[in-house]
This record gives sequence, structure tokens and C-alpha cells, in this order.
Amino acid sequence: MLHDPNRIYIFDTTLRDGEQVPGCQLTTSEKVEIALRLEALGVDVIEAGFPVSSPGDFNSVVELSKAITEPIICALTRANKNDIDVAADSLKYAKRPRIHTGIGASDMHIKYKFNSTREDILQRGVDAVKYAKKYVEDIEFYAEDAGRADNEFLAQMVEAVIAAGATVVNIPDTNGYCLPDQYGAKIKYLMDHVSNIDKAIISVHCHNDLGLATANTIAGIQNGARQAECTINGIGERAGNTSLEEVAMILRTHQTLNKHTNINSKHFYELSGMVSRMMRMPVQPNKAIVGKNAFAHSSGIHQDGVLKHRENYEIINPEDVGIDQSEIILTARSGRHALKHHLERLGYVIDKINLDDVYERFLTVADKKKEIKDDDLLLLMSDGTERN
Ligand code: KIV
Ligand code: ZN
Repeated sequence: MLHDPNRIYIFDTTLRDGEQVPGCQLTTSEKVEIALRLEALGVDVIEAGFPVSSPGDFNSVVELSKAITEPIICALTRANKNDIDVAADSLKYAKRPRIHTGIGASDMHIKYKFNSTREDILQRGVDAVKYAKKYVEDIEFYAEDAGRADNEFLAQMVEAVIAAGATVVNIPDTNGYCLPDQYGAKIKYLMDHVSNIDKAIISVHCHNDLGLATANTIAGIQNGARQAECTINGIGERAGNTSLEEVAMILRTHQTLNKHTNINSKHFYELSGMVSRMMRMPVQPNKAIVGKNAFAHSSGIHQDGVLKHRENYEIINPEDVGIDQSEIILTARSGRHALKHHLERLGYVIDKINLDDVYERFLTVADKKKEIKDDDLLLLMSDGTERN
């Protein structure tokens, strides 16, 4: 995993951090169905669950381990022996198992969650990594609430867990607190100050409490992180996690970043719908990449521009994310060009004079409706204008 410095590994946690959301719980067979689609999408790691949390979650990790071939199957634990024993047991059928263990790194968590000290917490982290290492080679350590942790202490912790055998170190902005430049600087600080950093991959795991999860993830990648932890549709605790489809499409759209993933983005739209239906979490219409309106143009100026050349108003080809084509929505804000486009699609031959007349009548109807559909156009044209 350590070879290509520009390859970004995609760690999907839809089935763990995403599934923690109330109302989003899935059955084991639903999880397997989604995991198979994540495998087809090309993710590198699937976080399958938190096995000690319930027999159902344990069973899901077992079944995913059996069903999935290519991606690493990862199980979450806290930094204690029982969690790690249970996780190792749940991963026994995994072709490529990973244990994801960790503990709080911010003074807030150390004091108010663990009622402990930095020294004790650091030791517990190191012990957990060493204990997990008895079971599997691939150990990811998470420094919870790293976003608010003191950088010097964080660097000490990262160095110690790598020395103990961690292959990946996750720097979560658990509370979605950081600004992109702060988070990027935190990753850079670790890259510059952890002496054995070349022995592990740094992973970014950002929450979206301030709407900055994707921006922070990209800032982390720009500063040396090589793994991004994300969920489909950005689902997850509170305001959610980083959206997988956004990260993949940003890296692809901005070639100057010189980073690439193994993701086949053509699966995005279908997978987004599947996750939304199974988890009963509607996708907001203006959601980047996969929202209903992500490739829909409704104002006259934009419609005219996109009909002249798609790239005037589209930085992504909709086919690249599994959407057949962009939509030109007819509303009272549409112009003649969009109206003509739809009438021609329906088989009408329209000349300039005729178009002016039809457009006037169209506006009268459009002012009374949110959107003009084909039926409305057919009615509008029932004055005898000939069709092809
Ligand atoms: O947000 C977080 O800190 C987490 C860890 C458990 C990895 O989800
Ligand atoms: Zn999280």
C-alpha cells in the first residue's frame, strides 16, 4: 500500500459511521448488498461495523468478510482488549482484515470523557495497537477529536502508535471543528514532526458540523494524507461525514492536485439512490454530484449557455457519475432557446416568428406553474402547429 505517493486510498464508512444515524440501521443482507456495490465502485477499505456494539453488528462484519474479496474489511474497536478480541473474531473470514482501534486525543476528551491524563491515554493507545497486532498485521489507529487536540501531543501519540505497529493513523476531526487551513496545517505538522511517519499512512476523517468536511478532507490530502474516510451521500453522525462522491470528483476534476483514486465514478448515481432508499435518508436536491438538481439547468441564461456548449455551465460530465444527461427544466425563468430545444425534441419544427408567439403563450402558462412538462407543451401546441 505504500508505493504510489499520489494514490489516495478511499476508506468507506457508510456501513459504520453512516449507519450509526438513528433510523438508518440496515439488516445484514442489506449491508452485504451495499458492500458488493462499494467493491464494484472500487473503494480500498470497507469499514463493516463496530462488532462489540451488538450481535447484529458482529454478524454483519462476519458476513461482509465472507462476501468481499478485494477491499480490506475493517472493524472498529475502542482501545480495550475485549473490543479487540471481538473484532478479531468477527474478521476471521476476511481476506484482508484490518482492526481500527483508538482513543481520544484532545484534552477535552482526555479530561471529560476519560477523566485521565495525556500520559495514560497515550499508553492505552500504544497497548491497544500492540494487542491488536497479535491478531492482524494491518492496524489503523484513530486519535479521536484530533481536530481539537494539541498538535505537539498529537505528534507524540502518532509517533508512539506507529512505533507500536500501526500501519495507518487516522486524524479525525470528530466534531467538524477545524477550518480547512487549520486542518491542513495539522496534517502538515504531523508530516514534518513525526520521525517515523514514512512507516504509516495518514488518514483523514472529517465530520460536517460546519459544512467543511469535504474542504477539510481535501486540505488534509494536499498536505500529505493518503487515505480519505468518507460515506456515500455524506451520511453520518449529526451533520454527517465527508461525502465520498465529492472527494473522488474533486480529485478527478482538479488534475493539478495530481492525486488519483481507484473509484469508478459511473456507479455514483445508482449507489447514492440505493443507500438513500435503504437507509431512508433522502438526498437533498442540491447535493453536489448526486442531487436531483446537480445537473439540472433552469434559468434562461444558463440554459442558453449550456445548449451552446455543455461546459459553459457544467464542470462534470453527468455521464461520468452515472446520470444519462443533464436536464433543461422549463419554468417561467426559461428562455426561447430552452423552449425551442424541448419543442424540437417533441418533434415540432419551429421558425423564429412562430417561436416568439409560442414563447409568449408559454410564459402565460409557466407563470402559473412551478415547472412545464411535456404534457403542458403538447397542450400549448394543440393550435395546429405541425410535428415532424
Ligand atoms: O469521528 C470519529 O472520530 C470516529 C472515530 C471512531 C474514527 O468516527
Ligand atoms: Zn466519525
